Amino acid sequence: MNRIKKLYCRTFQTGLKIALPFLPYRKPKISKSVKAIPDIIKKHKCSRTLIITDKAILKLGLTKRLERCLDAEDISYVIYDKTVPNPTTVNVADALELYQENGCDAIIGFGGGSCIDCAKAVGARIAKPRQSLAKMKGILKIHRKLPLLIAIPTTAGTGSETTLAAVITDDLTRHKYAINDFPLIPRYAILDPKVTLSMPPFITATTGMDALTHAIEAFIGNSTTYGTRKDALLAVKLIFENLRDVYHDGSNIDNRKNMLHASYYAGCAFTKSYVGYVHAIAHSLGGEYNVSHGLANSIILPYVLEAYGPQIYKKLHKLAVAAGIAAKETPQEMAALTFIQEIKKMNEEFGIGTTIPEIQEEDIPKLSHYADKEANPLYPVPVLMDAAELEKFYYMLMED
Ligand SMILES: NC(=O)c1ccc[n+]([C@@H]2O[C@H](COP(=O)([O-])OP(=O)(O)OC[C@H]3O[C@@H](n4cnc5c(N)ncnc54)[C@H](O)[C@@H]3O)[C@@H](O)[C@H]2O)c1
Ligand SMILES: [Fe+2]
Repeated sequence: MNRIKKLYCRTFQTGLKIALPFLPYRKPKISKSVKAIPDIIKKHKCSRTLIITDKAILKLGLTKRLERCLDAEDISYVIYDKTVPNPTTVNVADALELYQENGCDAIIGFGGGSCIDCAKAVGARIAKPRQSLAKMKGILKIHRKLPLLIAIPTTAGTGSETTLAAVITDDLTRHKYAINDFPLIPRYAILDPKVTLSMPPFITATTGMDALTHAIEAFIGNSTTYGTRKDALLAVKLIFENLRDVYHDGSNIDNRKNMLHASYYAGCAFTKSYVGYVHAIAHSLGGEYNVSHGLANSIILPYVLEAYGPQIYKKLHKLAVAAGIAAKETPQEMAALTFIQEIKKMNEEFGIGTTIPEIQEEDIPKLSHYADKEANPLYPVPVLMDAAELEKFYYMLMED
């Protein structure tokens, strides 16, 4: 990246860092069970709720417990179940139509990050009916309050239940972009491990690696705070202590609960301290080829960490200590390299490869342009790279 662009990026990031204590961050109110929802809806005097979920979740019967609770209290609801992984502008438009047709006044995102993000984006369109989603791309474009928004994560990965982001894919261009603004932070998050028990091992692994990526990218960035560093370290500790076990035995509710908490803490860390190039590249691939988000992140993560080099050794050493794979006395470089090595080992154990075969060489300039646009100047990454420099990662991901 040339010096002028570097200066621009770092000035932009410093400005946001200085503004951080004055920005209206908040956390969702946490409940441990879907049983809390009827009271929340009654408290907010809402009359009809739109539940946004997906077909697989509905088929597994995961929403049944919630439906029973709502029925028992005579609370009216409608269900939108067509959300797809990497949710699209069409999902948002269809769910919005259902909301309006049925006179709804509250939204529940019930599912992985895709359903929660779709719910957030529907809320954003209700708050700003005359503004398209594309015009909300970037930061601080919403300003207005959303209807009551409750998030029930069924994966332990995205942390979307606590973040200010919604990531949506344009159905026509396949451009996947993030919308970031404070009103998108859900009012309530239900961290109920029971709804994550049905996750198959591979989804458990890839979504767990997404949470790990959030914690790492937030921690190695330049805009951390005492609180986000603490959250990131705790998330890394919990993930290293639980992910392997839960991959091999998904029925252990304690491991599931710990992973859900890890995902939440990692979300708390990155919503204030941002992600980095791993996510920017993953989003470009999720949009273009529908590669699942967690899978893309887990594959890209070691490549990007290695490319950052010695600049991040000190921070990776701290993460390695939190992960329990290095001691405080371990030399920095050794601990950092052990940490990257351990990520590769986990990927191997989980059957996650090292390449993304969908990538077509002719798409690389466009994809790296998208990644550059998303990350620069917003993400306070340890080493800045422009579109031309980011291209190398796509080539690495193509190689076998
Ligand atoms: N808003 C944010 O802060 C944020 C952060 C990270 C990622 N994201 C976005 O979230 C999306 C990815 O979300 P995700 O990784 O949670 O996956 P997902 O929501 O796309 O779900 C992946 C698959 O897992 C299935 N699934 C979900 N929960 C299940 C369960 N309990 N049992 C069985 N199957 C289950 C779904 O049906 C789906 O087929 C991406 O679009 C990504 O960009 C958003
Ligand atoms: Fe993510």
